[in-house]
This record gives sequence, structure tokens and C-alpha cells, in this order.
Amino acid sequence: LVASFQPKVLAGKRVLVTAGPTFEAIDPVRGITNLSSGKMGYAVARAAREAGAEVLLISGPTALEAPFGVRRIDVQSAQQMHDAVLSQIDGQHVFVAVAAVADWRVLNASEQKMKKQADGSVPELKFAQNPDILATVAARTNLRGYPYCVGFAAESENLVEFGSSKREKKGIPLLVGNIGQNTFGQDDNTIILFDEDGHTVLPRASKLELARQLISEISKRVSKLSL
Ligand code: CTP
Ligand code: CA
Repeated sequence: LVASFQPKVLAGKRVLVTAGPTFEAIDPVRGITNLSSGKMGYAVARAAREAGAEVLLISGPTALEAPFGVRRIDVQSAQQMHDAVLSQIDGQHVFVAVAAVADWRVLNASEQKMKKQADGSVPELKFAQNPDILATVAARTNLRGYPYCVGFAAESENLVEFGSSKREKKGIPLLVGNIGQNTFGQDDNTIILFDEDGHTVLPRASKLELARQLISEISKRVSKLSL
């Protein structure tokens, strides 16, 4: 019921959200992933839909159901998430990158399940850096400011300092910072919004409540862009 009373501040807007972790295969039964339940990204997708937007969610592996009225594309690896985002980005007004994307993929992944060795020798993994999805999309922002790009950063320390420098490094107008240990798997969180004017703390609340506040902040900024 509360959902249907949210102000329709994103009516007529298309919003693309990434969420969840990515999964980088080591062999057909093993892989490397990040800590992320997907709860915050799914809450952002839900809040954007409640605000009247047409929402597409590109999600790594999670245990969650797509929010009502949200179209979802499922991916596993960072490369797949990158390809899916780039194939869908045209015409999007807002891009919110909530996913915890693996920074590296395994270069020498095995096609068959690796077997333990009798002599105790262990596999040696080689890594390559994954493409930065958010930075790639941000670099394509048009002169009117679309897609309006929002990043998320989970840090373990120095949030205020790392958050503002990460926003500038990524070349995005808005970045949401949080402390990993306070958020992973939890239903609530506290976040900090970084923009060109500085930073604002949104005190501890449910992820859905924070997502609604974030969508409200995004819509204010997007309404200042020309159509
Ligand atoms: N991100 C992305 N593609 C990547 C890595 C990150 O789109 N390959 C996005 C995340 O979804 C998030 C933002 O970039 O919105 C910040 O992610 P984060 O891991 O904090 O930043 P990095 O630039 O990867 O820096 P770090 O070395 O701290 O991990
Ligand atoms: Ca990273």
C-alpha cells in the first residue's frame, strides 16, 4: 500500500540498475565472488519503479525475486554484466550501479573440474582485470547529462575520504558510500551521498527507506537536466 503512495517523481523516465555480486568461474563447479546479497540494488529498483520509472535490473546471482513491475536480466560474470549493460544503455535516463562487481576474472579457468593432487600441490590462478562498467557508461554521458550515473562504494575504512575521491575518479555526479561490515546481508544500513557540493549522511534506516530517499535525491538532480 505504501508503495502506491510514493510520489511519481520519475514518471516517464527509464532507469537501469545493476545489483548483486558477480561470479567469476575457476572451473565448472567453483568460482570467486563478492559479498553482496543484492538487497540494496533490488530496493533501488523497487523504489525507482514506485516512483513511476520503467526499470530494468541487471543482476548477478542472488536469492531474491525481481520487484513487482521490474524487468530483470540475469548474469553471472562481470564481463556478462558489462555486455548486458552496454546492450541496454541506449535511451536510459538514469544508471545506478549497485552491483559488487568482481575486479578480476580468472584467466586460466579450467574447462573441467580440477582434481586435488596427491602430492598436495595447489592450483595457481592467474587474473585479468575486468572492465569497469560504471566508468564505461559514465564516459558515454551525453552533453545534456544522460544517463545520469550513480555509483555505490563499499569501503572498510576512511569512507568520507575514499567516497569523495572515488566519485571524482569515476567521473560521476553522485556516489553512495557505505561501510561493508555495516551492510552485507543486512536489512538496514546507513549511507553517505557524495556530490560536487560535498557529502550528506542518511542515518540508519531500512534499505527500502534509504532507496526511496536516494531515488528522491536522484530525481531532484535529474529534473535539473534539460530533456
Ligand atoms: N563498478 C563497475 N564495474 C567494475 C567495478 C565497479 O561498474 N568493474 C561499479 C560498482 O557497481 C560501484 C562502483 O563502480 O557502483 C564502485 O565500485 P568499487 O568496487 O567501490 O570501485 P573500484 O573502482 O572497483 O575501486 P576499488 O579498488 O576500491 O574496488
Ligand atoms: Ca572494486
